[in-house]
Amino acid sequence: MASTAFELKGKTVFVAGHRGMVGAALMRRLAGEQAELLTVPRSELDLRDQAAVNAWFAAKRPQAVFLAAAKVGGIVANNALRAEFLHDNLAISSNVIQAAHANGCEKLMFFGSSCIYPRLAPQPLREDSILTGPLEPTNEPYAIAKIAGIKMAEAYRSQYGADFISVMPTNLYGPGDNYHPEYSHVVAALIRRFHEAKISGGRKVVVWGTGTPRREFLYVDDLADACIHLMKTYSSPDLVNIGTGEDISIADFALMVAAAVGFRGEISFDTSRPDGTPRKLLDVRRLSGLGWRATTSLNDGIQLAYRAYRAASDGRHQTDSLVPG
Ligand SMILES: NC(=O)c1ccc[n+]([C@@H]2O[C@H](COP(=O)([O-])OP(=O)(O)OC[C@H]3O[C@@H](n4cnc5c(N)ncnc54)[C@H](OP(=O)(O)O)[C@@H]3O)[C@@H](O)[C@H]2O)c1
Repeated sequence: MASTAFELKGKTVFVAGHRGMVGAALMRRLAGEQAELLTVPRSELDLRDQAAVNAWFAAKRPQAVFLAAAKVGGIVANNALRAEFLHDNLAISSNVIQAAHANGCEKLMFFGSSCIYPRLAPQPLREDSILTGPLEPTNEPYAIAKIAGIKMAEAYRSQYGADFISVMPTNLYGPGDNYHPEYSHVVAALIRRFHEAKISGGRKVVVWGTGTPRREFLYVDDLADACIHLMKTYSSPDLVNIGTGEDISIADFALMVAAAVGFRGEISFDTSRPDGTPRKLLDVRRLSGLGWRATTSLNDGIQLAYRAYRAASDGRHQTDSLVPG
């Protein structure tokens, strides 16, 4: 596996999607790297706008780019907003990768996702199982766009020698997660539902699906640490999975979240809701061979995520009370 030393110190580093869960974690982790961090809010630069992206890159010429901007969501959003998930993610990847190349970017990290792997690929999911079978239908548009992004990074490397790399994070959770009641990922959805039941004295919480699918969860600050490690040391067209290498059933995970939140009522399963892929665990041997492993336990991570959720919802309530009537 090819590796090179890449210095972040003293470089201009663009974090695309810096307000997102991953982007914000990258910003926290990059703060100690003595790099000049570049960010731009979506209100000033819509990354789907090719001309605007080209103009921004020509003006700023970042030396390193973390492409962590994307249209992201849980199973319901992915399935309902199929056109937007395909279009927006294709446009963002295409615009940013091309503009980075055209404007002298020395290194770029593209963020894929574990859902790029075929629905029934052997578990744990190895990096070389990409494009070996049909995808999970509920998030196929998102996965197709992500696969196109991976192939784009790979093509700029093979045609132009660009040092563009791709990482595949597993399911992430932590500060900055999306707690939308319909469109969130499973960790945020469970934290919110258990918390609201606890506060309102609800006796039962309904968990979507059968509870039997198995999932792997990585605390987002661990992800950021892995990304900085890879950005500095890794250079290859081969993807790198980022995960813990351990999975848990949704039912057992729900029990852990309920305990962390302090909900003592009943947990039931709504089997009319889709389960998604039966199992999703990444093979992380490539990553561990590159000298990195996750350090935040699932229990500690859930506690930290719940603390961040409460801090954010306290902030929201205070802001709500300041809104003039
Ligand atoms: N979350 C996960 O479990 C997970 C797992 C695997 C891989 N990933 C990957 O990690 C990356 C980041 O995910 P995340 O969880 O951090 O998502 P997120 O919290 O939804 O953040 C996405 C960011 O992208 C920005 N963005 C979206 N569309 C944009 C546009 N048209 N122009 C400019 N900015 C735009 C958003 O801006 P606003 O703040 O303005 O909305 C936001 O800052 C994605 O590539 C995702 O596929 C995430």
